[in-house]
Amino acid sequence: MYFGADYHPEHWVYPLAGTPENPEERWERDAQLMVQAGFNVVRMGEFSWGLCEREEGKYDFGWLRRAMDIMRRHGLNVVLGTPTAAPPLWLAKKHPEILPVNERGETLHEGTRRAYCMNSDIYWEYAKKIVRAMANALGDHPQLIAWQIDNGIGGHHTEASFNEQSAKDWYAWLKAKYDTVERLNDCLGLRFWAQVVTRFEDVPMPMIAPTVHNPALLVDWMRFCSDTCVAFVRCQADILHEITPNVPVTTNLRALTRNFDHFDMAQVLDFVSVDSNATINAKSAENACEIDMLRSLKKDEIRAPNGDCGFWVIEQKAGHVNWQEVNSLVRPGVVRLFTYQLISRGASGVLYFFFRQPRIGAEKFYGGVLNHQGHGENRVYKEIAHIGEEMKLLAPAIKDTKVVAEVCILYSHDNAFAMKLPGQPNKHFNSREHLQLFHTAFHDRNIPVDFARPTEDLSRYKLVIAPSLQMLAGGEADLLKLYVQNGGTLMATCNTGLVDEHHIAPDDGFPANCTDLFGIEIGEFDPLPPGEENHLTFKGAFPASHLHPARLWCDLIEPKGAQVLATYAKDFYAGRVAMTMNEYGLGKAIYFGTVSHQHFYYDLVAWLRQVCNLFPLLKVPDTVEVSMRQKDDRKIYFLLNHQHSHVRLHFYKPMHDFLTGQTFTGNYDLPSHGVLVLDETVPVQEAPKEGAPAEQAPATAQAEADLAPA
Ligand code: GAL
Repeated sequence: MYFGADYHPEHWVYPLAGTPENPEERWERDAQLMVQAGFNVVRMGEFSWGLCEREEGKYDFGWLRRAMDIMRRHGLNVVLGTPTAAPPLWLAKKHPEILPVNERGETLHEGTRRAYCMNSDIYWEYAKKIVRAMANALGDHPQLIAWQIDNGIGGHHTEASFNEQSAKDWYAWLKAKYDTVERLNDCLGLRFWAQVVTRFEDVPMPMIAPTVHNPALLVDWMRFCSDTCVAFVRCQADILHEITPNVPVTTNLRALTRNFDHFDMAQVLDFVSVDSNATINAKSAENACEIDMLRSLKKDEIRAPNGDCGFWVIEQKAGHVNWQEVNSLVRPGVVRLFTYQLISRGASGVLYFFFRQPRIGAEKFYGGVLNHQGHGENRVYKEIAHIGEEMKLLAPAIKDTKVVAEVCILYSHDNAFAMKLPGQPNKHFNSREHLQLFHTAFHDRNIPVDFARPTEDLSRYKLVIAPSLQMLAGGEADLLKLYVQNGGTLMATCNTGLVDEHHIAPDDGFPANCTDLFGIEIGEFDPLPPGEENHLTFKGAFPASHLHPARLWCDLIEPKGAQVLATYAKDFYAGRVAMTMNEYGLGKAIYFGTVSHQHFYYDLVAWLRQVCNLFPLLKVPDTVEVSMRQKDDRKIYFLLNHQHSHVRLHFYKPMHDFLTGQTFTGNYDLPSHGVLVLDETVPVQEAPKEGAPAEQAPATAQAEADLAPA
C-alpha cells in the first residue's frame, strides 16, 4: 500500500522558505513531517519543465535529485511526473505554432499550463527531449518507483486543437481509416446537405460554423482527438520504458469527464492513476461509481509498484478546493471516510493533493495536508497522520487483494461521444444520470459492479447492464449476442442501437442489429419533457414495490417473441409494451424501454438478484456502504457510514476490525463518518467488544448472514 502526497519542492525554497544560505533547507522538515504522517511516497516534478530547462538545452535536474536524495534519507519513495503539462515560456515564444487553437480559430496563449497542441510535431520533439533528459538524469535514482506522464491530459478542454498541424494529422487519420474518398463520403453520410468531398484535404475540422456539423464527422473528430491524446502519452511511455524498463508508467485520469477513450489510454499505461474529487462531491454513490469506472479501465496486465494489482489515487483532495463558488472546509472525519472508500474499491496507492498549501500561484487557496504555516499542527495534517497510522496496520492485510464483481455496466466512449452531439431526441436525457440510477441501485444494495467496454470478454460476469448504448457497432452487437447465447443475462434500455458505428440509423427498427437478441422491434419512441410522466404496469414476476413512472423516453416496443414484463398505463400508447425479457441461446436478454425513478432500480436489482443468483456482500442498514477486497478465500469487508449520525449494526457472527483490533459481536453503533475494516477470522485470544466471548468463526463463502439490518 502506498500512502503519501503530491509534493512541490520548487514551491519551498528561499524566499518562500529556507534561508539565503540554505534555500532548500525546508525540504528536510517536509520529509520529516511526511514520515510522521505515515507517508511512504511522494509525487513530484509534474510542472517543473521551466525550472529544469530555464533556457533551451541547459538542463538542471540537480534540485530534483537533491529533493529525491532527501526523500531517500527518510525512506520515502518517489513518483516523478514528466513535466510536459506546463511548457516553458521560451518554447512558446520561439515556436508560437505549438500553442493550441480553439474552435473559433483563436490561439490560446502561453503563460499557464496545458498551453500546447498535442498534434504539434514541434511540441512532440521538445517533449521527447525533456522526457529523455529527465529519464537519463533521474531514472537511476533508487527512490524512483514510477513515472507519471504529463499531468491531466485533456484538462482545461485541451483534447482538441484546431491547428494547421492538427488538420494535416486529421487528413492522414481519415485516409488511414477510410482509404478512399468514396468510402469516406459514404460512411460519414456526406450526401446530407451535399457536403461531399473529392480530396481528404477538403474534410473540415469541425470549427465554429453557422449550424451543426455532420454527427458522423463529429464522432470521428472526437475519435481522432482521443487517438492523439493516447499517442502523445504512448510516445512518452515508449521513451521511459526504453530508458527505465523496470519503472512502471502511469498518468492521472479523471472519471468520465474528458473527451478521450480512457480504456485506450489505460492500455498504454502500466497502471491506472486517478484524480479524485471525493470529499468535495458528498454523494458517496457517485464517487463509488467513478471509482469503479476508473478501476475497471485496466483489469489485466497491471504492473504497479511493488507488484500491486490495483490502481492509484494519485491526487486525492486533502481538504477544500479553490474551484467551487464556495470552498467550504471538509468536515472532520470526511477525508478519512473517503480515503477508505477509495481503498475499499481497489486503490493500492493514495496520495493527497497538495502536501502543503502553496503560498504562490493559482492554487494558493486550495487546502493541503499542511496549511500555509506548515508546522504540522493543523487539523487536516493530524487527521491524515491518523489515517497514516491505520494504513500501517492495514497494508499487510490488503496486499494483493482486489475487488471482484459479478455484475458489469457497459461503457463505450464512442457512445459517450455520440451522446454529446447536438440534435439528440431528448436533450434532458443525461446518460451519466441514467448510468448512475443503475450503479446506485447496486451500490446501495452492496453488490459490487465493474465497468467494461462492449468489446471486452464479458463471460466472467453473471449480469451485464447496457444503459443506452445509442451508438452500437455491429461487432459490439455480435459480442453481446455471444455473451447471452452462452448463458449470460444482459439488460439494455431505451436509447440503444439508434445508430451504428458510422452514425447511420438502421432501416429495420431499433435496437440496431439486436432485434433478434431482445425479441423485440421498436418503430417509434416518445421523448418526454422533464416533469411529464407515464406509468408502468407490471406483469408476472416483476416485484414492483411502488407505482413506477416512465420518464424522459418511452420506447413503443413490438414484442417479436419476447415475454412482456411491463406496459405503459396512459397516453395513446396505453397498454403498449415497456419492458420485455427474451430467452436467447442459454441466456436472457432483458429490455427496459424507458427511464424510471430510483425506486424502480432498487426493485430491478431485487429481481435481478433472483434471476442471476447474485448476493449482496453483507446485509447492513441502507446508509452503510459496503465493499469487499479479496484474494482467494481471504475476504476483507469495508463498512462506511456516510451519515451524519451513528448507525446501529448487528453482528450475528463475531468479526474482527483491523483498525482497532477489536472483535465485534451483537450490537455496535458505527459513528457518523465511521469506518470498519473487517474480516471473519477472529483471533482466539481477543475478547469480543460486547456479548458472548468470540470464538474462531469459520469463513463462509457467502457472508450475507453475518450482519443484518438493526
Ligand atoms: C488536478 C491537477 C492538479 C490541480 C487539481 C486542482 O486535475 O492535476 O494540478 O490543479 O486538479 O483540483
